Amino acid sequence: KTILLLNGPNLNLLGTREPAVYGATTLADVEAQFAEGAQALGYKAECFQSNHEGALIDQIHAAGQRFAAGDLIGAVFNPGAFTHTSVALFDAIQGVKPLPVIEVHISNVHAREAFRHHSYISPAAAGIVVGFGTDGYRMALEALVRKAASKTA
Ligand code: DQA
Repeated sequence: KTILLLNGPNLNLLGTREPAVYGATTLADVEAQFAEGAQALGYKAECFQSNHEGALIDQIHAAGQRFAAGDLIGAVFNPGAFTHTSVALFDAIQGVKPLPVIEVHISNVHAREAFRHHSYISPAAAGIVVGFGTDGYRMALEALVRKAASKTA
């Protein structure tokens, strides 16, 4: 079975983008670590990054179908700045329920500018990991696997 890692806008710049906020780990590193972590738990990872809202929506729709078909256990999603703007991504996640989507933010958005305090995504998310740097992706991966295991137990 598969776990999807989705990253939104500007996360392709990880490693060089505001390293004081987001760290020195690149997206390629994040994806490689995610794939290793998934494999160690007996899953396959698929990773996708886009700067385009519609491309992320298409991925969520496809993930919903694959969840329904039993091929995918869920998605880990850092929506980047779309977190704070996108009703369309909220609707996409609501529209493919019960696909579990775990929202991840590298930085502690609540300790930053007020415009980062509100998330359109959180009410649709199965859980949220915020402020643990790029380790948060691995924490979310483990949470998804535990959730999937508890459903089949
Ligand atoms: C982010 C936080 C968002 O506010 C910001 O727009 C990002 C990254 C994070 O991972 O901390 O692009 O989602």
